[in-house]
Amino acid sequence: MFFVFDGVDGAGKSTQLEMFVQWLAEQGHDVVTCSDPGSTELGEQIRAILLGKHETPISMRAEMMLFTTARTQLIQQVIKPALALGQTVVLDRYIFSTVVYQGHAGDLASDDIWSVNRIATENHLPDATFILDVPVDIAMSRLGKTLDRMESRGNEYFERVRNGFLLESERWPDTVDVIDATRDPNEIQSDIRKLAIKYINRQASN
Ligand code: TYD
Repeated sequence: MFFVFDGVDGAGKSTQLEMFVQWLAEQGHDVVTCSDPGSTELGEQIRAILLGKHETPISMRAEMMLFTTARTQLIQQVIKPALALGQTVVLDRYIFSTVVYQGHAGDLASDDIWSVNRIATENHLPDATFILDVPVDIAMSRLGKTLDRMESRGNEYFERVRNGFLLESERWPDTVDVIDATRDPNEIQSDIRKLAIKYINRQASN
């Protein structure tokens, strides 16, 4: 199984992902957890370029290609081998983030980003994606004091990010769920687990 958690910064993604991974392990899954961008040596180096505060100009298209390059390495080095061994992969962010942050919010064409990413990932798509959704003012209030390069883009950018996630989700009704992440963390987690059981049963019956 291949699960992805995604959503606007500050939606509580990391907390939910951690609770989910713990539950999966208790259920007997052999879980591999990773972050995109990151979780490979190359990915971590690219992540530092993308998120670090520096003066090097990076165009939106170059930014899109860098996120995508980190992802290519992650698929090749970690995710593809894990899936081949029958492990359960839980990934923090994936293609949706690029389509939304660099596409919907960053003005690149979403279809181009999908095309590049299909090639970059050899079309490895998740069995399920959970999009954690909160209004931007709540999301922003949850971020720490020191914002990274992406988090510094301001509320208007993040409104486009949030709407982008909602729009993209509608295109994938069978594999993508939008979760209201304004609620109590345990309630959110309980919804995610119920959905996960549905996806796991679906795969078992295939
Ligand atoms: P995230 O993975 O949420 O890390 P942290 O929780 O440690 O801040 O953040 C990565 C940032 O990069 C986040 O602002 C979203 C952004 N991003 C993109 O703009 N495009 C992408 O393709 C990906 C994967 C992330």
